[in-house]
Parts: sequence; structure tokens; C-alpha cells
Amino acid sequence: VFKLDAYIEDKQRVINAHLDRFLDRGTPYPTALNEAMRYSIEAGGKRLRPLLCLAACEAVGGKEADCLASACALEFIHTYSLVHDDLPAMDDDDTRRGKPTCHKAFGEATAILAGDALLTAAFEILGHEVAETAAPAAAAKVIAIVAKAAGASGMVQGQMLDLLFEKKAVSWKELSMMHGLKTGALIEASVKVGAVMGGGTDEQIDALTVYGSHVGLAFQVADDLLNERGDPELLGKPVGSDKAMSKATAVSTLGLDGATMEAMRLLRKGLEGLAVFGNRAEALIALGKYVVERRH
Ligand code: IPE
Ligand code: IPE
Ligand code: MG
Ligand code: MG
Repeated sequence: VFKLDAYIEDKQRVINAHLDRFLDRGTPYPTALNEAMRYSIEAGGKRLRPLLCLAACEAVGGKEADCLASACALEFIHTYSLVHDDLPAMDDDDTRRGKPTCHKAFGEATAILAGDALLTAAFEILGHEVAETAAPAAAAKVIAIVAKAAGASGMVQGQMLDLLFEKKAVSWKELSMMHGLKTGALIEASVKVGAVMGGGTDEQIDALTVYGSHVGLAFQVADDLLNERGDPELLGKPVGSDKAMSKATAVSTLGLDGATMEAMRLLRKGLEGLAVFGNRAEALIALGKYVVERRH
């Protein structure tokens, strides 16, 4: 039987060691900027996007080394998004990953710059490392997938809509579209990048996209549920803030039971995409279940 805990622990160790390699690389004049970048990366986090990237690479028969650098680039982008998401002008949160948020620890200006630098570093990593390990066409494809998922067609637009939807009555359809952008896009991209770097065929990449898009949506529904009834100690971030800020969430729109059922429905749909991979997809199956059942 597949042991998810051991898998996660083992891969997190590899990912963390690799992330460390990419921090401070060739910095001619280290400042608080570098400290803040390291602080937010090393604060912890589940490393879910890199894990999904590695597992998708595995599903198409690729090797871990093929996608480790791109997996790290995805975590840099994710961490940048958290640093900016927590800023006073955005969600104004004080704790993240069990520690003071980046702007609480380093000040707002440094936190903004640390986010900028993490985002930029991700593309430096992709440019260098991906070009070394992948065929040029695959490398270019990966960079385009990540850029699209991170920017105005993906996460940043989702963050904009998240703010615009505050204190506004939105339908589940609108909310779900916003979830797909702010959270789903990068998760879907993580799976696709793993598949491309692992040498997957177009059919395999399409099948994994079905998985990634549904699991990405399920992830945000679970995040909304945890904000309502999770344990702040376990989560490492505050709970109840969505309600306090009258944010439109899966819970405010569907209710607790409705949101729970929706997460399960999305997972089921997502797992349908994995049928073609047989037991090569066991890590993806287990990670998908973990996304909806997790307590942090
Ligand atoms: C939280 O992401 C932010 C969302 C996109 C909803 P994670 O729950 O993956 O955060 P970390 O990386 O484990 O801290
Ligand atoms: C965070 O969404 C999404 C991104 C950072 C792109 P939320 O604001 O809902 O997530 P948490 O609860 O702060 O982690
Ligand atoms: Mg937010
Ligand atoms: Mg937030």
C-alpha cells in the first residue's frame, strides 16, 4: 500500500534542500531582502505545489531530477503570493506558516520587495535549470505555463477578483471562477509542469490537467472550510478572518455541508482524470485526497 506520510516527508526533504540551494545564489550584496526571502520560504509550508509537480512527473514516467528545479520555482511563486496576500493592503494578516508574517517581521517595504524578488527568482530558476534539463521547446512551454498561471490570466487576476468580491453578493459560479484563478491556476500549472518536464504526451498532459484543475478548486474550498472551523495552531494562520471581513467564500455561499460535499465532488471529478495512469498515479491519488481531508 502507498504510504502518503512517508512520501510527503521524503519529498519535502528533497524539495527543501533544493530550495535552499536557490536562495542567496550569487548575491553580491546580501541585505534584509535576502533574509526576508529566506524567512518566508523556510517558515515551512506543505510544499504542496512542488509535491504535485513531482508526482505528475512520476505519473508520466519521468525522473525526480527532471522537475526538481521547476518544482522549486513553483514554491517561490506560491510563497511570494502568500507574502503579498498577507500585506495590510490585502488580507492584513499577522501570522503565516506559524510565524509572524513577512511584513510583521521585516516591514512592509521589505515584504513587498521580497515578494517581487521571489517571483523574479522563480523565472531565473526556470530559465537556467529548465533549459539545462529539458529540450528547448519543453523549457519554453514550461515557462509560458507558469507565467500564464501566475499573472493576469491566473493568480493575480484571482487576487484582484477576491478583493472586488468582498462584501458583495456573488454566485457560486462567480466565486468558483475566482477560486480557479487565485488558487486553481498555480496548482493546475504545477501538475502540467511536472508532466511536461517528465516527457508526458499531449494526451497525458490533458488528463493531468483535468486532475489539476479540479484538485485546485477543491483545495480552495478546503481552505475556506479550514478558515471557518480549522485549528489555528495546526494551520499556522488565523481562522475566522473570512467571516470577520465578510468575504465571499465557499462556506458563505454553500454552507458548511454544501462546501464539504462540493470539495468531495471536485475530488471525484479530478481523480477520473487519472484512470489512464494505473498505479503510476498512486501519489497523485493520495495527494488529491489529502487536499480535501487535510487539517492544515
Ligand atoms: C494557502 O496555501 C494559500 C492558498 C492558496 C489558499 P497552502 O495551504 O498551500 O500554504 P502553505 O504553502 O502550506 O503554507
Ligand atoms: C490566498 O488565498 C491565495 C493566494 C495567495 C494566491 P487566501 O487569502 O484565501 O488564503 P489564506 O487563507 O490567506 O492562506
Ligand atoms: Mg487573500
Ligand atoms: Mg489570505
